[in-house]
Amino acid sequence: MDRIRIVGGKPLNGVIPISGAKNAALPLMIASLLTDRTVTLENLPRLADVSLLVRILSNHGVDYSIDGRRQGEDPDSGQTVHMTAREIVDTTAPYELVSRMRASFWVLAPLLARCGEARVSLPGGCAIGTRPVDLLLMAMERLGASIDIDAGYVVAKAPSGGLRGGEIDFPKVTVGGTHVALMAASLAHGTTVIHNAAREPEIGDLADLLVKMGAKVQGAGSPVIEVEGVARLVGAKHRVLPDRIEAGTYAMAAAMAGGDVLLQGARAEHLQAALDILAEAGARVEATPDGLRVSRNGNGIKPVDVATAPFPGFPTDLQAQFMALMTRADGVSRITETIFENRFMHVQELARFGARIKLEGDSAIVEGVPTLKGAPVMATDLRASVSLVIAALAAEGESMIQRVYHLDRGFEALERKLSRCGADVTRISSGD
Ligand code: EPZ
Repeated sequence: MDRIRIVGGKPLNGVIPISGAKNAALPLMIASLLTDRTVTLENLPRLADVSLLVRILSNHGVDYSIDGRRQGEDPDSGQTVHMTAREIVDTTAPYELVSRMRASFWVLAPLLARCGEARVSLPGGCAIGTRPVDLLLMAMERLGASIDIDAGYVVAKAPSGGLRGGEIDFPKVTVGGTHVALMAASLAHGTTVIHNAAREPEIGDLADLLVKMGAKVQGAGSPVIEVEGVARLVGAKHRVLPDRIEAGTYAMAAAMAGGDVLLQGARAEHLQAALDILAEAGARVEATPDGLRVSRNGNGIKPVDVATAPFPGFPTDLQAQFMALMTRADGVSRITETIFENRFMHVQELARFGARIKLEGDSAIVEGVPTLKGAPVMATDLRASVSLVIAALAAEGESMIQRVYHLDRGFEALERKLSRCGADVTRISSGD
């Protein structure tokens, strides 16, 4: 298994190109199942999760091709993938694949909408929580589907005439629930209204693609989304929006290490809550025509209390990264995780750098320390692993981060992007 070696203490200066968003790419790729025409996605990030999902979708019969490099193309530009689900040959999504990438559970919606049936493995829990899917199943039932659980699989059937529009009222905000409701409703007979819909930018990106494919969607990005079902959808071309979590992560890395970076392509409106908190913590944040400029030169890191919340609140996917920053604040901060029940796995690992963090229920109390010391640490999940990178960038001496496959799931070319800005970061392949 690869490891990442970091020698801390170097500021970050330069340009970090922001890749296409993982959490937009996955639903956009799954939406290709809704039509027998070609869906072309540009700016797709080169990530393990994207490659795995391509394999999963090809199991259902999706043909795909990936454009090769073009003369003079920017090496950091994303990949272009053409996906065509001419015919869906298999409506089963197997446990061995769904358990490896839980978002693949979302294929339930297009399989039901297009084929009237689906047999999808329950995804199971993960490091950050039990991750139930009861609200996703409720949404499908509201559109007329019958749902059974058989030997760890969801067995779903649409009414003989196909899914019917309906009222879906989510008792809590769910990104995956909103994605599957949008996809299923786009081909249902009649109108669907989704209440308490998630407002994350990735929802808007999916809605933009669905509309290009001929769907009739109003209100994406607001708490109430209305979808008027159509008989069929056609192909389309769409550019994946920039990854706000990657951008927020590197913004926190710059605030932690000091220096001045341009997050190329990042859009402030996608992570305003995080930027406001970073400014309170002492970083300088400036929107520019090329993206976001984040710097901290000399002044200290101030403690700031944060509670995660659905968009437009502070994103849970930046909680671990922010905690790493607070480990060196001039005071005590309280970080409350309201979305997942077990998203503090990084606390024990951050403590190995000398961080002082106490857990109290759904909050972590971080007492900032002046210096962290490099240490061997282990990544446990995607966002926790990058919080260790952020801590290591500012720690004195060498750190070694194990199990970096977690990082490869969500951060394209991390060591290249950081070392080009002056960080001392090297990947040590297991073969070495
Ligand atoms: C998406 O997960 C993201 N994943 C997560 O990012 C992100 O943390 C999460 O949204 C919240 O923003 C992708 O987009 C691929 P939810 P999702 O449904 O859709 C509960 C990352 O690091 N819930 O919004 O699975 C759930 O347990 C990942 O990139 C139910 O109770 O999250 C959680 O407490 C991690 N029943 C809350 O709702 C359900 O049926 C929000 O979950 C569904 C969810």
